[in-house]
Amino acid sequence: MRAAALAVYRPPRIHRGLLFLFLAATLSCCLQGLGSHAQTLPLPPNEVNALRQAATKLKIPPTLWNFSVNPCFDWLKETKSSVVSHNVVCDCNATTNVCHVVSIEVKGYNLTGVLPEEFGNLTSLFFIDLTRNYINGSIPAADWASLPLRNLSLLGNRISGAIPEEIGNITPLRSLVLENNMIQGPIPRGLGKLINIERLFLSANNFTGELPEALSRLTNLTDFRIDGTEISGKIPSWIGNWTKLRRFDMQGTSMEGPFPPEFSLLEGITELRVSDLKKSDGSFPPLEKMLGMQQLVLRNCSISGMIPDYIGNMTKLKTLYGS
Ligand SMILES: *[C@@H]1O[C@H](CO)[C@@H](O)[C@H](O)[C@H]1NC(C)=O
Ligand SMILES: *[C@@H]1O[C@H](CO)[C@@H](O)[C@H](O)[C@H]1NC(C)=O
Ligand SMILES: *[C@@H]1O[C@H](CO)[C@@H](O)[C@H](O)[C@H]1NC(C)=O
Ligand SMILES: *[C@@H]1O[C@H](CO)[C@@H](O)[C@H](O)[C@H]1NC(C)=O
Ligand SMILES: *[C@@H]1O[C@H](CO)[C@@H](O)[C@H](O)[C@H]1NC(C)=O
Ligand SMILES: *[C@@H]1O[C@H](CO)[C@@H](O)[C@H](O)[C@H]1NC(C)=O
Ligand SMILES: *[C@@H]1O[C@H](CO)[C@@H](O)[C@H](O)[C@H]1NC(C)=O
Ligand SMILES: *[C@@H]1O[C@H](CO)[C@@H](O)[C@H](O)[C@H]1NC(C)=O
Ligand SMILES: *[C@@H]1O[C@H](CO)[C@@H](O)[C@H](O)[C@H]1NC(C)=O
Ligand SMILES: *[C@@H]1O[C@H](CO)[C@@H](O)[C@H](O)[C@H]1NC(C)=O
Ligand SMILES: *[C@@H]1O[C@H](CO)[C@@H](O)[C@H](O)[C@H]1NC(C)=O
Repeated sequence: MRAAALAVYRPPRIHRGLLFLFLAATLSCCLQGLGSHAQTLPLPPNEVNALRQAATKLKIPPTLWNFSVNPCFDWLKETKSSVVSHNVVCDCNATTNVCHVVSIEVKGYNLTGVLPEEFGNLTSLFFIDLTRNYINGSIPAADWASLPLRNLSLLGNRISGAIPEEIGNITPLRSLVLENNMIQGPIPRGLGKLINIERLFLSANNFTGELPEALSRLTNLTDFRIDGTEISGKIPSWIGNWTKLRRFDMQGTSMEGPFPPEFSLLEGITELRVSDLKKSDGSFPPLEKMLGMQQLVLRNCSISGMIPDYIGNMTKLKTLYGS
């Protein structure tokens, strides 16, 4: 079960790596030689040091990160619920006898520390999920810039400061989830360098300023959420570049209408939720090609007049809510 769940997180890059933890647990009968050897494989001291310092900064209790035992094999793996779970995963190579930390998840443990720049020393780390804690401090993006990070979630913490420009150097990122923090300032142009990004969740923060045109380069985006922020300006025409977009949420911002004609290029949208647009011209957004639409919310967007007939052709529509 766990091995299967884990496979979801592992990128093809290290597909051939062996996860001895799971092998030892599930296949110890068949892999005795390998398994017993692997269980003794230590993490390199620089990675242990980085974990130790990270534990101090994040205030992770020694019951979770117990440095008397091997982090790769002997730390608690637990999923108490969908909101509380803990897991640190290593990738160990039996030929070279080297292990690396590849994934860190500490969700819902009410941690009160600060984000550790020392994660930057875990050179194979591709997954960080610190969802629902009380972690503060700003994102040490400059220190994390050379990590092969694909998923980073800091959802529901107390992260402050601005998003550093250097976040754009973490180019492997596929999913960046910063929702529900206290991050302020403008959305940095550097985000436009994350050309592989698919999910960009920025809702419920204190962002100000306009969406920078550099974001027009994020052509792999499928899911963009920026509800409940003070971002302003017109809905940009370059948004028509986001041709793979499936979900777009922009409720409760200071953005202005109308939707630009280029919005009609986003034919794959299945969920669209926009509210509280100022200064629209009253026109209905150009949605006629979005025949796969399932959820459509246009509330308080200064739209006047009739709902267009083509809505009737959106045969998958489950929610239509507007005013
Ligand atoms: C282990 O490391 C060796 C030497 O770097 C490499 O050739 C091999 O592909 C690695 N094995 C796995 C399973 O990743
Ligand atoms: C991280 O790596 C840098 C450069 O190699 C080193 O100076 C520093 O001591 C390392 N930090 C930890 C916590 O291992
Ligand atoms: C850490 O592991 C050692 C060895 O198993 C154990 O004796 C000790 O009680 C553990 N410490 C904590 C805080 O769980
Ligand atoms: C975190 O705090 C909440 C509220 O105080 C509590 O219900 C929950 O059990 C705590 N979670 C953990 C893992 O300690
Ligand atoms: C983080 O919170 C602690 C108190 O929990 C506080 O002392 C510290 O100044 C805060 N740091 C930042 C950067 O907000
Ligand atoms: C990691 O990011 C990818 C790309 O957005 C996403 O499909 C996947 O569900 C994420 N994994 C987890 C465990 O959140
Ligand atoms: C974020 O905005 C809210 C509401 O405007 C405000 O109460 C809060 O102090 C702001 N937080 C930061 C970190 O700027
Ligand atoms: C988008 O994703 C594809 C497939 O993962 C990748 O080949 C490409 O380099 C990515 N970036 C852009 C800008 O298309
Ligand atoms: C994206 O939009 C810009 C305008 O901001 C345009 O010049 C550029 O060609 C577009 N790029 C792609 C890949 O569609
Ligand atoms: C509608 O949106 C405007 C901003 O565009 C806001 O000032 C107003 O409070 C919103 N009205 C409601 C009923 O939410
Ligand atoms: C709905 O679809 C039908 C069949 O494809 C087409 O003839 C009709 O023009 C469409 N209606 C609107 C209002 O777009």
